[in-house]
Amino acid sequence: MTHSTKNRRTTDTWRVVWWLALPLMVVALPVQAQQVTYADLAPLLNKRCAPCHAGTAAPRGLLLDSLDGVLAGSSRGPVVRAGDPEGSELVRRLTGASLPRMPMTGPPYLDEADVERIRRWIAAGLPAGTEAATTTSVTPTPRAPGTPVTWNDVAPLFATRCAKCHADNGLMGEPPEGYRLTSHAAALASGERARIVPGNPDASELVRRIRGQSRPRMPFDAPPYLTAAQITLVEQWVQQGARDGNGTPAALPVGARVRIEGTLGRGWHLDGLPLQVTPDTRIDDRLGPGRRAEVRGHVASDGTIVVERLRR
Ligand code: HEC
Ligand code: HEC
Repeated sequence: MTHSTKNRRTTDTWRVVWWLALPLMVVALPVQAQQVTYADLAPLLNKRCAPCHAGTAAPRGLLLDSLDGVLAGSSRGPVVRAGDPEGSELVRRLTGASLPRMPMTGPPYLDEADVERIRRWIAAGLPAGTEAATTTSVTPTPRAPGTPVTWNDVAPLFATRCAKCHADNGLMGEPPEGYRLTSHAAALASGERARIVPGNPDASELVRRIRGQSRPRMPFDAPPYLTAAQITLVEQWVQQGARDGNGTPAALPVGARVRIEGTLGRGWHLDGLPLQVTPDTRIDDRLGPGRRAEVRGHVASDGTIVVERLRR
């Protein structure tokens, strides 16, 4: 073997290595170079954060529906520090390093992959990306007139005004009375007792609480209470069957326990709601029209309330 042949062989070997390695580099390069911008993250933040972090009632004044809002931070100061993901309050809230963990409605919290994208955006110095996405804020699609009220119409209200407490890791720790307002299934759950009786707003403790017929009135941290228009929307939603996000009415929880409160009227009415009082109903002495009373009973197959116990 001459010196020159050996040289040529070595060169050939390197050529092969090159050709084998090339596809790997082609795949690896874009991943390395791909930069996360605010425009990439906006859909995620709008979906998971802006239901609460938008508008005048945004918690701690933190607006997460625009880049300007994110950069402006909260009443306590900045929530993102360019180049320092782990020192950014926004990331700390997503991982649970700062409590309460976000989104407040979790679990589910964000996927690790999404948190990682947010870290990379902060590490890269908070680039904006395309201008369009940075200036758009969420405007809810208004319901077409005449169409039934669904969970999608009331969910933003429950998210912004109720879920900060009525969630697993809410402001009060455990959800008050074990009642969560973080999903349609949770709101309608009737294992312990039904707080919503589809088709019967007056028999629904949730409606009574936002009206102030049951006390303490909700939201617990009010004022402001819900506006008349918001209360009407929730009443219509319950009246029309407490439909889920697809528009399917919820099943009547026949036999489920209820506990409602209000003021008695003549002939066993509670703020206008007819009560089914039977010979088995136990009634406290001195209960009569004009008195406040707590009603315990269950949901009959026609959606009315059969009273087991009536007390002051
Ligand atoms: C259901 C309503 C709700 C949702 C949804 C929500 N938050 Fe919050 N957020 C709150 C409330 C309430 C607070 C104030 C809690 C506290 O610190 O006492 C808060 C506080 C924060 C804070 C702390 C601000 C500060 O300076 O102390 C950050 C950061 C935050 N949220 C980020 C997010 C992010 C990011 C998302 C989405 C992934 C999100 N939040 C979703 C209700 C919500
Ligand atoms: C600041 C925390 C907080 C907020 C916000 C809040 N609640 Fe409550 N909620 C409570 C507490 C505390 C109770 C238990 C009060 C009691 O009856 O002693 C409660 C009780 C209830 C109950 C009674 C549950 C049962 O089992 O009878 C309903 C229904 C309810 N809330 C609905 C709502 C709705 C709807 C909203 C939003 C419009 C809301 N809450 C906002 C703290 C809160």
